[in-house]
Amino acid sequence: MYTVRFFKAMKHSEQQNQDSKTTDFGYEQVPIDEKVNKVGQVFSSVAQKYDVMNDLMSLGIHRLWKKVAIELSSAKAGQRILDVAGGTGDLTKKFAKIVGPTGHVILLDINYEMLTAGRDRLLNQGIVDNVSLCLGNAEQLPFPDNYFDVITIGFGLRNVTDKTAALRSMQRILKPGGRLLILEFSKPVLPGLKPIYDHYSFKILPFLGKWVANDADSYRYLAESIRMHPEQSVLRNMMLEAGFADAEYFNLTGGIVAIHRGYKK
Ligand SMILES: C[S@@+](CC[C@H](N)C(=O)[O-])C[C@H]1O[C@@H](n2cnc3c(N)ncnc32)[C@H](O)[C@@H]1O
Repeated sequence: MYTVRFFKAMKHSEQQNQDSKTTDFGYEQVPIDEKVNKVGQVFSSVAQKYDVMNDLMSLGIHRLWKKVAIELSSAKAGQRILDVAGGTGDLTKKFAKIVGPTGHVILLDINYEMLTAGRDRLLNQGIVDNVSLCLGNAEQLPFPDNYFDVITIGFGLRNVTDKTAALRSMQRILKPGGRLLILEFSKPVLPGLKPIYDHYSFKILPFLGKWVANDADSYRYLAESIRMHPEQSVLRNMMLEAGFADAEYFNLTGGIVAIHRGYKK
């Protein structure tokens, strides 16, 4: 029997910063409260085509990026792992195999369509016993303090309205000695890569989105949201400010993607 638990959001001290009244949604400025709905529309719209688009857009390279993130997590049998913004469950699936029957993986996402697409996919692959699902917001994670050995957030953080709240929330529920892995698009550092990458992102990507998923706008948002996301060193500082004892990053594919790793003391 598949374990599906929809945890009720608990109240914690991490509250969204209300100092500024607008925030970015791609290149657009929108009222803070509206971003979550707009991001929700994007992922509800792409949920059914998400996996095929991921392979197509990255020529399958996202699988390698995820493999590196899993290796950097040093996850082990018997551990408790949270996959925040886990979507269709790529990381969850791999962690479920690593932690085995004595461990547990929770796939958390704010979007019902993405979460159910993940559930169906895991079910079809026979990954059942050590995985639970949680509909929840990264900014207010509904778990006790010091609970997880490893937390990942893969291509999720740039979509979160209050990234500081999410980082604090993840730091709070990590066990001392636990680690957070943030896998996210970042700033290209390889000389000459930026113009090619920009052309691909703003010309080819929306075309692919229109052609395969009949949704150019969502893939335009993807390109814009990547540019608005804090670059490598800024995100590292945000992690330290959120309470991580140490933080480092690894550039992949010339910095198109970076993995940040933070430790809790
Ligand atoms: C690009 S997908 C990544 C899915 C998966 N981690 C992967 O790497 O394939 C981003 C996911 O972040 C989720 N998300 C966006 N904002 C969120 C939030 N505040 N809390 C939790 N999940 C969120 C979206 O619903 C979506 O499923």
